[in-house]
Amino acid sequence: MWWKQGLVLLACITTVVIAQGSATWQSRPLPAALASSTGVGQSQAPLDFLKTISKGAEDFSLELFSTVCQEVAGIKKNLMISPFTVWALLLLVTEGSSGETLNELQRTLRLTNDNLALRQGYRAIEKTLRVNTSTIEVSTMQTIFYDLNRPLKRDFEEVIEQQYQANLKPINFFDQAKAQEEITKYIEQATRGLIKPSFSSKDLEDGQMVMISSIFFKGQWKLPFNTSFTKEEPFYDDDGNVVSQVQMMTQTAPFNYAPIVEMQSHILELPYGKEDRLSMLIIVPKKGVRLNDAIQKLRNVGLERIFNELRDKEIINTKYDADEVEVFLPKFTTTTSINLNSVLEKMGIQDVFQPNYANLTKISDQPLYLSRVIHQTKIEVSEEGTVAAAITVGIFANKASPPRFYLNRPFAYLIVEKTTRSLLFCGQVTKPVFIK
Ligand SMILES: *[C@@H]1O[C@H](CO)[C@@H](O)[C@H](O)[C@H]1NC(C)=O
Ligand SMILES: *[C@@H]1O[C@H](CO)[C@@H](O)[C@H](O)[C@H]1NC(C)=O
Ligand SMILES: *[C@@H]1O[C@H](CO)[C@@H](O)[C@H](O)[C@H]1NC(C)=O
Repeated sequence: MWWKQGLVLLACITTVVIAQGSATWQSRPLPAALASSTGVGQSQAPLDFLKTISKGAEDFSLELFSTVCQEVAGIKKNLMISPFTVWALLLLVTEGSSGETLNELQRTLRLTNDNLALRQGYRAIEKTLRVNTSTIEVSTMQTIFYDLNRPLKRDFEEVIEQQYQANLKPINFFDQAKAQEEITKYIEQATRGLIKPSFSSKDLEDGQMVMISSIFFKGQWKLPFNTSFTKEEPFYDDDGNVVSQVQMMTQTAPFNYAPIVEMQSHILELPYGKEDRLSMLIIVPKKGVRLNDAIQKLRNVGLERIFNELRDKEIINTKYDADEVEVFLPKFTTTTSINLNSVLEKMGIQDVFQPNYANLTKISDQPLYLSRVIHQTKIEVSEEGTVAAAITVGIFANKASPPRFYLNRPFAYLIVEKTTRSLLFCGQVTKPVFIK
């Protein structure tokens, strides 16, 4: 029992953005790790499509991260997103799209028209991600809640269940309170209670289908920090002003690190578990360089380059036995809740959000559109390791559903003859009574 719930209560108030973001990307497998787990044979072609899909997922993820950070750049707050859950959810949407809606998703997600390759690639990535050992646990889940009175198309259901191993759950959307209760229960379970959904039954008012993509991660540091060395210290902003007091953990150990010149930053790798598959990459800009500027350059640098730099350094360090690093890292907890509609629109996914343009005819005969993409995450980083969870929730509405007039509060009325514009009666109702 290395993890005790509630151990980490301290919130770190300044921008430690990068540390949090990287936990998520790093859980994305590298093509090499992928290739060995796919079972698709050793010929060159399958490996090429896996590389293409995983590189596309990486490009999308880094663009998402930089776009989200750009949106909040002026606000300077803690933030953590899970690109994987957004990517996985949008793949399911892609499977249900046609026409220009499909083109936009394919462009932004860097997909080709090859559905079979995509599905195979997705399964390989998800299979590689899922681990459950004594030191690391990663579990991911995709679920679609749909209205039991409005079934989904059979072909779509088959693809979703068989190719994506997603769950399909019929619920009664007419009973909004009950539907919300069921979805809430599901999310709490999928994220081990880390995430309490921020949407209310009101958000489901025009909802007809809810897609949820979730991830839970628990990783023990390969080299845990000793709690007796943790002590209170100040934390500074980009300009060197003290912004808060934090619980600073520390240790001296052989960690990999490397400078990335274009980003004017150093990268430090803190590995999880024993398998050497998951790490937190921490990006520290040089003094005087703004974190957001470093993040914006990350997209062009890419993960492959970072791993190469780290590996080259590791080789040099091992050779000269000079690999000890002194690390000071604050304990922190970050909770994020954002609506991704505008971010995704900026990234080129637009039609799917428009009632008049969305083409989701493969999902259902109902004219659906994506009304909201809600993204919620939480991370806790302490001496022992990291616990994190995220959900991406897509709420789909029916564009044909009529606007609702719920006359359960005071209203006025006029009775008119239209050709002559005669006002025959007018009145107001503040407390209706009916007596015959
Ligand atoms: C959706 O796209 C398909 C393929 O381009 C097209 O045939 C169909 O008319 C479109 N449907 C709607 C509702 O836009
Ligand atoms: C992982 O293993 C633990 C302990 O064996 C178990 O409680 C947990 O449910 C497992 N998680 C998954 C996703 O299978
Ligand atoms: C932590 O440090 C203290 C003080 O040096 C030492 O007594 C203790 O054994 C260390 N704990 C672990 C788990 O290494």
